[in-house]
Amino acid sequence: MQEQLERIKAAAVQALKESEALQALEDVRIKYLGKKGELTAVLRGMGALSAEERPKIGQLANNVRASIEDLIEAKKKALMEKEQAARLAGERLDVTVPGTRRALASRHPLKQLEREVCDIFIGMGFSIAEGPDIESEYYNFEALNLPPDHPARDTQDTFYITENVLLRTQTSSVQIHVMENQKPPFKMVSPGRVYRSDALDATHSPVFHQMEGLVVDKGITMGDLKGTLEAFLKKLYGEDVRVRFRPHHFPFTEPSAEVDISCFVCGGEGCRICKGEGWIEILGAGMVHPKVLRGCGIDPEIYSGFAFGVGLERIAMRRYGIDDIRLFLENDVRFLKQF
Ligand code: PHE
Repeated sequence: MQEQLERIKAAAVQALKESEALQALEDVRIKYLGKKGELTAVLRGMGALSAEERPKIGQLANNVRASIEDLIEAKKKALMEKEQAARLAGERLDVTVPGTRRALASRHPLKQLEREVCDIFIGMGFSIAEGPDIESEYYNFEALNLPPDHPARDTQDTFYITENVLLRTQTSSVQIHVMENQKPPFKMVSPGRVYRSDALDATHSPVFHQMEGLVVDKGITMGDLKGTLEAFLKKLYGEDVRVRFRPHHFPFTEPSAEVDISCFVCGGEGCRICKGEGWIEILGAGMVHPKVLRGCGIDPEIYSGFAFGVGLERIAMRRYGIDDIRLFLENDVRFLKQF
């Protein structure tokens, strides 16, 4: 019996040596130590032994079982370690391999310009206001001193949603919202889309961008308007630029002016960009009309203010030499990539 046990042990050791998977270890365990296993079978025959031999063989059998169990455990541990090492090796990342580059989009040139212009005004203590693209006639026209039969409405014909709801033709509507909702003093700029029912061609688009500015406080004068706009235009076009105010008419400002800068290409001598004029028209401005202030509940005897409106496409087109406004709308990456 002793021999039999030694043989079982040797066979099990050999089998374990050859086991290369956890399942194979389990098979060995069942084959030798399981209920119907070989060792168990030997133990079952112990009844036939003499009282003297029985404890000796029992001891030996226990030793054999223990050493097979130990071997299985050790091998199991080794196999699991090997498996984990293989898995880690398979999952290894080489962080030095060059990545695949993703093409980053860039900001639309008009948005870039809008940011730049807003930043200049933020630097002068202005805040940013927003107003809706869809307006009632009151905010777009009436409150801006453009009554229903005013001829200036014809030059800003737009898209009507109902008889008195429309797509705003100018960001000046935001002036009214600000003055109705806040108490002066205020200093704000408001960039956004405006709409006019113009046919799309190289210089006209039914949707374009403006930026409105409004300052209202006690004692605001035309001098503040001129100083502010001059500071803005010099920041945008350079310190050398000269600024000119021409008398003009807007129903919601009095007096009103159109503001030109000396041509930033020829410096004022006359060229293709300024069409030989030496000057380029940049924006409309004026002192807020007392009627407009009063309509918003602001006493024009106490407060005064100025407003201005800039067309952003125009500035961008002149700056980058873009000769077709449609390029801003087409989203052609060959165009957009250049900014
Ligand atoms: N809203 C005017 C326009 O679209 C521009 C403007 C704004 C003029 C503010 C004066 C004051 O032409």
